[in-house]
Amino acid sequence: MGIADPSKRLEAMPPYMFQELERQIAEKRAAGIDVISLGIGDPDEPTYPYIVAAMQEAVADPSTHRYPTNRGRDELRAAFAGFYERRFGVEIDAENEVIPAIGAKECIYNLCFAFLDRGGVALASDPGYPVYTGGPILAEATPELLPLVPELGFAPDLGAVPPEVAAQARLMFVNYPNNPTGAVVPEGFFELVVSFAREHEILVVHDNAYSETTYDGYVAPSFLATQGAKEVGVEVFSLSKGYNMTGWRCAAILGNAEAVQTYWRLKTNIDSGLFDAVQLAGAAALDGPSGPLERMNETYARRRDLVVGALREIGVEVSAPKGTIYVWAPVPEGHTSTSFAELVLEQAAVVVSPGSMYGPSGEGFFRIALTTPDDRIAEAVERMREHLA
Ligand SMILES: Cc1ncc(COP(=O)(O)O)c(C=O)c1O
Repeated sequence: MGIADPSKRLEAMPPYMFQELERQIAEKRAAGIDVISLGIGDPDEPTYPYIVAAMQEAVADPSTHRYPTNRGRDELRAAFAGFYERRFGVEIDAENEVIPAIGAKECIYNLCFAFLDRGGVALASDPGYPVYTGGPILAEATPELLPLVPELGFAPDLGAVPPEVAAQARLMFVNYPNNPTGAVVPEGFFELVVSFAREHEILVVHDNAYSETTYDGYVAPSFLATQGAKEVGVEVFSLSKGYNMTGWRCAAILGNAEAVQTYWRLKTNIDSGLFDAVQLAGAAALDGPSGPLERMNETYARRRDLVVGALREIGVEVSAPKGTIYVWAPVPEGHTSTSFAELVLEQAAVVVSPGSMYGPSGEGFFRIALTTPDDRIAEAVERMREHLA
């Protein structure tokens, strides 16, 4: 055993699917080729000015420079509660039903450690955000995949979950608007989730990373607005995508009070909360105007239409998503997700994500992120049209 050998837990993590593609990107760039990446979903526009101004003021105040509490400042918990009431019609007790998180990723990962024992089971949407499977594996538990069925609007068929798996499961990760498929929650699905969770005593974790990024008049609901949801679940709300704040690390867990307190109890052993200035800026973001978000969504919708139009022209049958910053499309006949992503890189010097990166049910699809400036997206789709038609 070498001194730097990883733990068995870490060794058990599946290999990073993007590795080979990343190597090829680096090779092309080194050869002077102008590669356009539509791979990662990281908003390219700056954080809205009113949030930056709140941060500037907060960071200049020395009282924000000391250890925060990881229960969160009153201002931020109140701002989340106010936002949930106004935006979703969901009542949140700011004292007991919300704790800030250092991003949704941290929260989801730590929920695995708060609720899963070794050998435990978590149900994870497939395809899905990688932490739904990586978190359980690192907690020495087992992620059981819930394939998202295109014919069901990219919802899992809960009736198809084997009874012995449902009986063992303690956590269930769902996410709408959905990464990577761009799907919005099918009518009635959250209600099914609540009754499934009640029947099998499973804590639902709804990852609400994209509710503020929607198009064509669609308004995404909170899972917590579903009758009975608070009895069986929590929601993780992140400021990363809607507010262009991926670098700030600002999110929260809201909902079932006992589950929220258990998460907090775990966190007191792990981290020391969000920088107080970020908490104040986060509160300003949530209390702020909706205009900047609406304008951002117009930008994404314009890019979405550009991408969807170009893909249809080259024969890819794709529907325009009503939410998220992704276009999810089937790969052409004769290709796997990876072989198609490699072809696009080779022929057009454009990076798309192979769907299989997000789980086995992502095979046969690729994902395009809309977080690249308009002119670069236009250039990328032009190249795809030219080289792949
Ligand atoms: C579904 C989903 N959840 C969570 C995250 C991460 O959010 P955060 O920046 O708050 O950690 C992402 C980021 O891509 C995501 O797509």
